[in-house]
Amino acid sequence: MLILFLMLPFRSRPLAALALSLTLSAGLPLAAAAGDASATSDDNAHRSGDWIRITSKRSLANLESIDSFGITEQGTLAARLLLSYLTGGDPAALRSAQRIYAAIIPKENHGGDYTALQWFSEVFLADMAERKARLQDPLVASYFRFFTENDHAVLKEYLQRKYHLKEFPDQESEKGRNRSAFLEDSILFSNPRREQWEKSSAIVERLGITPGSTIADIGSGPGYYSFKFARRVGPKGRVFAIDTVKQHLDYINRLTRQEGISTITTVHNHNESLGLAPGQKVDLAFMCSLYHIIYIVYRESARETFLESIKSSLKPDGRLVIVDNAVVEGKDPPYHGPYIAKELVIAQLKHYGFELVDDFQATPQRYLLSFRLSRGR
Ligand SMILES: C[S@@+](CC[C@H](N)C(=O)[O-])C[C@H]1O[C@@H](n2cnc3c(N)ncnc32)[C@H](O)[C@@H]1O
Repeated sequence: MLILFLMLPFRSRPLAALALSLTLSAGLPLAAAAGDASATSDDNAHRSGDWIRITSKRSLANLESIDSFGITEQGTLAARLLLSYLTGGDPAALRSAQRIYAAIIPKENHGGDYTALQWFSEVFLADMAERKARLQDPLVASYFRFFTENDHAVLKEYLQRKYHLKEFPDQESEKGRNRSAFLEDSILFSNPRREQWEKSSAIVERLGITPGSTIADIGSGPGYYSFKFARRVGPKGRVFAIDTVKQHLDYINRLTRQEGISTITTVHNHNESLGLAPGQKVDLAFMCSLYHIIYIVYRESARETFLESIKSSLKPDGRLVIVDNAVVEGKDPPYHGPYIAKELVIAQLKHYGFELVDDFQATPQRYLLSFRLSRGR
């Protein structure tokens, strides 16, 4: 029996194409393959992704808006106070913002920028010694510099755009929406507090990266994982940071130059191809927080081309790893944002010739799925 209930609430940002595809069909049950004698055939089918048990009214995949998360009254008030500190320098405004973040983060941490903004406010209030300690990691220092140089220009712009605290002439245009998406991805994905909600270190550990390996970080954004991978692959390895948004790659290039990192190569690709040099093969194709977009937004033909591009870039024993957000049950999950049920990913990739070899739940929200090319492909 196959029951699928998929709703797609999203607002703003017009999409060129919206294609929902649910391609589930029979295959070898994972539990049976693993020799789980006690599993029923229903359990096996469920685990293998051949059908999905619907246990609540939550959607199985959700884009929200394509890049933006909701805003609330309290979040907007805290942003206004933070902006008031940045423009007027009043530490009382900053302390008020901190009190609000402390109260709302456990309840309504929409998309994770609250923890980043809380972190900024703590650094602003810190004395010189503490600030130095907090900015010791070059990646964190670079993040801080990006948002605060030129009198906090980028941080102010982020707050103004996200929380509608100022009108921008381009805000209704594609250019303006792209700028907002870029700023939001930048603040969210290099957030020094990201470890707290997704356990990034457990994710990297689980990958078992060996020195000398070659990794494609597909949809690298500002390179949060690319830099972690560079540390793991060492001087003989290579990390390709691949993204369609050039400003993210500019950010990465600036940091690699500053830190003398020569093992990260940025690749500006165009939606449907990875853009790697012909014949370039990788041990690991890694995609974090991107597959929900490919699943929900891409036309079937575009997804096909994209996945073929990934397949042709993998070494024979290479892996495709997908990290994304799970369906989190409960009325007020601690994090909101785009997500996709992992069963959908597992089932669809089966039809693209990938078999699941690892399924790891880093936190209730964050999963890691590791695939190899199916035998005979
Ligand atoms: C939600 S962000 C995640 C960033 C990064 N993976 C991380 O976890 O820190 C998704 C990124 O994928 C990029 N992207 C979207 N479509 C892409 C495509 N077809 N190829 C490469 N990158 C893409 C976006 O520009 C954005 O930087």
